[in-house]
Amino acid sequence: MILSSPLDYREAARRRLPRFLFDYVDGGAFGEETMAANRADLSAIRLRQRVLRDVSAPSLETSLFGERMAMPVLLAPIGLGGMMRRRGEVQVARAACRADIPYILSTVSVCSAAEVTQSCGRPVWFQLYVLKDRGFMRHALERAQALGATKLVFTVDMPVPGARYRDAHSGMSGPHAPLRRMMQAVGRPGWAWDVGLRGRPHDLGNITDYRGQPTSLTDYIGWLGANFDPAITWRDLEWIRDFWKGEMIVKGLLDPDDARDAVRFGADGIIVSNHGGRQLDGALSTARALPAIVDAVGDALTVLVDGGIRTGLDVVRMLALGARGVLLGRAYIYALAARGEQGVTHLLNLIAQGMTVSMALNGVRSVGEIDRSSLT
Ligand code: FNR
Repeated sequence: MILSSPLDYREAARRRLPRFLFDYVDGGAFGEETMAANRADLSAIRLRQRVLRDVSAPSLETSLFGERMAMPVLLAPIGLGGMMRRRGEVQVARAACRADIPYILSTVSVCSAAEVTQSCGRPVWFQLYVLKDRGFMRHALERAQALGATKLVFTVDMPVPGARYRDAHSGMSGPHAPLRRMMQAVGRPGWAWDVGLRGRPHDLGNITDYRGQPTSLTDYIGWLGANFDPAITWRDLEWIRDFWKGEMIVKGLLDPDDARDAVRFGADGIIVSNHGGRQLDGALSTARALPAIVDAVGDALTVLVDGGIRTGLDVVRMLALGARGVLLGRAYIYALAARGEQGVTHLLNLIAQGMTVSMALNGVRSVGEIDRSSLT
């Protein structure tokens, strides 16, 4: 299969993964309307076509929270990313290191923060969920700090998990799930050999670190389901803010009032996100929510965004709407599933090329020049 556009990787991932894993990545909540709106509303953003402005040496370089990076693109935390390819998070971390951009490791990664950090020799940004088990949260923060992490991404849009109907249909959950998963794996021998057999252990490294016993996929679903804390408020988070020595970035805001609360709370940054349309279906797309949030918080903190970003052009669109940087989610996970570390590296090259071309045609030479004047 010819992979010449970032969009090609979705189909390549579909061919490689057992159905339960492809649908787990590809799906959203309920009727998947917000997930679709993320793509549709972003695609509808129109940029100005400018000419004769000497765009011969464009620069994508940027700096966020004092960290220099090759482009304003980060890799989003994706639970179970390590099931897409053998020791998948390690492969992603290596590709991120090579591309000189940050990788945000999920709480519920297959590979532990220690395994991932050792593999690429530089700290990841660490993502944490609000969980009832505060002992786990404290342990995970201490481990991340000991491994040199200075950026904490704190995800707050999952007080309860959204209903993901595709997971029940595909065998990720629901009746006879383990048997159905095994039968699907047999039909995907490439994946079964690479991940099913050679990619073990299939546990959740950060949780095993804490509980001291291997956890399985079924354990993962049970533990998470029982552990999300719907009672949480900003006040409950104060100990984390006081405990964490580095920057704290709150992920999963969609409302200007919540963004103002994040400023009052003392967050260093926020990520405008609806979890890729996996939580409240019917919520606004991130492309539509972003401008009002940027207006609400001004320069009080750094605003990042994710949701539906698949190409370099999409990155430029989000920057034009006011984001300082973006997270890629499914875009890089499809590439990981299809071709591993090499696929993620290729995808990131395509994203950088797409940004460079879009910026040149938009008449800007650096990411700092992209703002609402880039829009038409
Ligand atoms: C996610 N997301 C997510 N977010 C988070 O904070 N912790 C996590 O463990 C996960 N896990 C996860 C798994 C899968 C399969 C998906 C698709 C998403 C949300 C993710 O970080 C990001 O917000 C979205 O993926 C962005 O939307 P796009 O780019 O996938 O459309």
